[in-house]
Amino acid sequence: MTIGCTLVLTGDTLFGMTKRSRILLATGFLAAFTVFAVTEAELATAMKATQKSMGALKKGGKTGPDAEAAATTIQKSMVAGAAFFKEHKMAEAEEWSMKAAKSAGELAAAAKANDEAAATAAFGGVASSCKTCHTAYREQTAEGGYKVKMSH
Ligand code: HEC
Repeated sequence: MTIGCTLVLTGDTLFGMTKRSRILLATGFLAAFTVFAVTEAELATAMKATQKSMGALKKGGKTGPDAEAAATTIQKSMVAGAAFFKEHKMAEAEEWSMKAAKSAGELAAAAKANDEAAATAAFGGVASSCKTCHTAYREQTAEGGYKVKMSH
């Protein structure tokens, strides 16, 4: 994003545009990236999807197409989590999210290959990351919900 904007703002003859249209284009870039920012509400939604998929894997087994789909949902949710934590400069949580995403990716591959042993190992990797991060960065609200513990 920085590279894109810098190029647009400083390139005098870029596409022969006027300064005004270059600024408009740069604003467009910023708006596009704002859309991709992960809000706390989206983090909660991703976490709920993760929980549901973990439940499906526990109940329905860790191999086959359904397991692959569930693992892919977890992977995407953890990547979204990593984006959230990166934005809030929570480096450790970002790292744990990426680790969880990696394990979920391995689980998806093992599920597709019908490799029960590899799937079980990868599932363990995913499951342990949930607890580690929740202990450090999740807290319960007075209403019984959850929120991010930002005080780290
Ligand atoms: C790197 C940190 C991290 C990892 C990894 C992580 N979580 Fe979370 N999770 C959080 C935080 C922070 C919250 C509180 C945010 C919220 O709910 O608003 C949360 C909230 C939740 C919630 C409550 C959502 C709500 O608001 O009702 C569930 C369910 C959940 N996580 C499931 C999981 C599962 C299952 C895994 C593992 C597959 C997982 N999480 C992995 C950080 C993490």
